Amino acid sequence: MSEQASDLTSEEQALIAAARGAMAHAHAPYSRFAVGAALRLTDGTILTGANFENASYGLSLCAETVAIAAANAQGRLRDIAAIAVAGGAMDVADGRDVITPCGRCRQVIKEAQDMGGRALTILCAAPSGEAVARHRLDDLLPHAFGPGNLGIGG
Ligand code: THU
Repeated sequence: MSEQASDLTSEEQALIAAARGAMAHAHAPYSRFAVGAALRLTDGTILTGANFENASYGLSLCAETVAIAAANAQGRLRDIAAIAVAGGAMDVADGRDVITPCGRCRQVIKEAQDMGGRALTILCAAPSGEAVARHRLDDLLPHAFGPGNLGIGG
C-alpha cells in the first residue's frame, strides 16, 4: 500500500531514517546500488544492516539478510517487530523509486516472522522523498514454505 511519510507514526519514520542511514555502510562497489535495512525489536532497539557485496558476485548479501542475521547473532531473532528497507543507485542523487525486498530476503524475513510468531510488515522507501509502501510479508510471499513445514514453531 502506498503512503506518504507524513501518514506514518514517528516510530515508523525513525525506522525508515535508520534504513536510509544504513545505506551509507553498503559495500556495493559492483552494483553501485546501496541498500539499508532497519529492524525494530520488541523492546524498541533498532538494528541495521547494509548490502555486502563480494568480488564473486553471487555471494553478495542483501541488507535485509544482514540485518536479520545481526539480530540472530544477538539472540534476538524472535524479537523482530517491524522492518524498513531503503535503497537506490549510488550515482543518482535523491532517488525516489521505492524498493521492495528481493525474493531471497522475503524467505529470510519469513523465518524471522514465524520464529517470532508475529506478523511482520515491511516499510519500503527510496533514498529520498516522501513515498513509502507498506507491505505485509504474507502478501509479498504468499503460500510460503516455512518452519512450520518442518514441524518447527516460533
Ligand atoms: N539488494 C538488497 O540489499 N536487498 C534487496 O532486497 C534487493 C537487492 C542488494 C543486492 C545487491 O548488493 C544490490 O542490492 C543490487 O542488486
